[in-house]
Amino acid sequence: MQKVDVLLGLQWGDEGKGKVVDVLTPRYDIVTRFQGGPNAGHTLEFDGQKYVLRSIPSGIFQGGKINIIGNGVVLDPLLFMKEAQELAASGHDITRQLKISRKAHLILPTHRILDAANEAAKGAGKIGTTGKGIGPTYTDKISRNGLRVGDIELNFAEKYAAAKTRHEKMIRSLNYDYDITALEQEWLQAIEFLKKFEFIDSEHVVNNALRAGKSILAEGAQGTLLDIDFGSYPFVTSSNTICAGCCTGLGVAPRNIGEVFGIFKAYCTRVGSGPFPTELFDADGEKLCSIGHEFGAVTGRRRRTGWIDLVALKYSIMINGVTQLIMMKSDVLDTFPVIKACTAYEIGGRVTSEFPFEIDDTIHPIYKELPGWNTSLSECKSEADFPKEFKDYIAFLEKELETPITILSVGPDRHQTIVRK
Ligand code: GDP
Ligand code: IMO
Ligand code: MG
Repeated sequence: MQKVDVLLGLQWGDEGKGKVVDVLTPRYDIVTRFQGGPNAGHTLEFDGQKYVLRSIPSGIFQGGKINIIGNGVVLDPLLFMKEAQELAASGHDITRQLKISRKAHLILPTHRILDAANEAAKGAGKIGTTGKGIGPTYTDKISRNGLRVGDIELNFAEKYAAAKTRHEKMIRSLNYDYDITALEQEWLQAIEFLKKFEFIDSEHVVNNALRAGKSILAEGAQGTLLDIDFGSYPFVTSSNTICAGCCTGLGVAPRNIGEVFGIFKAYCTRVGSGPFPTELFDADGEKLCSIGHEFGAVTGRRRRTGWIDLVALKYSIMINGVTQLIMMKSDVLDTFPVIKACTAYEIGGRVTSEFPFEIDDTIHPIYKELPGWNTSLSECKSEADFPKEFKDYIAFLEKELETPITILSVGPDRHQTIVRK
């Protein structure tokens, strides 16, 4: 029996998951998504082209490998159609390679409106969602009102009408103005488009594949600090973004999880509202944003930036059982004379290295300062090319995090990746 390897974001998303899944795909037979939906924006670059994937797994570009959208995903047929059509237009027809779980939940046009209405009702306390209907769709799933991909083959029209009526009542109660006529028409056409793809009982497909000795990589979306249980609640997404989410989102038993790749940026970013203890509001923060091009892959929103937070990273490593670390975007730090890493929090005179229940402004990060390398990393081809200060930074992080860093990314391109072992 093979095991499923999982790749997860350890921060607030946008760590570079798409890039690394693409790089790792040649090692695997199947690549899957297991949670989240088109709130994700996973960027890949190769051959001078840039692609941003939202619902489609990032293993789609490497030699015809099977890609699966698992049961834990929420799928918007309209955004999916646009994504698939864009790929087809660039010469990547994915119709045969991509399979969709019958148990994945559908994002309805009214879910998107409800997302906007809920945010408007929250006013200043809004979450800053991606506006893709993620929260309302998972809410319907949990309250047992959802529509699933498999329903398209059954009494779909009836179920859709009932859900729409229920949603419209909710939207009206929030006094939110809306008009879904055009959106709904396009969405219903997209349902027809979706039927071109094979709907599967993915839990059987995945487990049969494992039994047949096939290897599977599961691609996380968002990041651990956006997890519905362990993230900075309520400023989180509505799914379990952690390793356990792979078990429920694919139907894989815990004992069949293999390597857990934890991916993080050499600094930290966050998009949307919510606490961020190491956030920078100074020139260094601006510099991280501009050199790192820290603007959302989907929404174009400016990402907030800050120093790396080892308290949060240790927490994420613990929750996910990370076996290997992957560090991204170290090249963004190339010109910083001093690099800071938060090793503990001081809260009301007490120092802790445990990620606390309440994350708010009373947290003061305690930093260790390390010398910068003042050299460009982006041309490095192997570890031997790394400047001493960067090697020291890696060694420091491995010691603090008690986990090996096995892959380092020094630029957005597929080839700007150094695998250490
Ligand atoms: P994901 O959501 O985790 O897949 O990450 P995103 O695609 O949202 O954001 C990562 C961004 O960083 C993308 O624009 C990537 O092209 C870019 N990127 C990835 N790795 C590196 C790297 O090592 N260096 C630099 N400079 N950019 C990178
Ligand atoms: P990837 O997979 C970064 C954030 C939103 C918001 C919160 C809730 O590209 O790393 P939602 O629309 O999920 O209800 O929004 O979560 N968020 C992300 N931030 N990367 C993502 O995905 C995100 N997906 C959701 O900004 O703060
Ligand atoms: Mg992203």
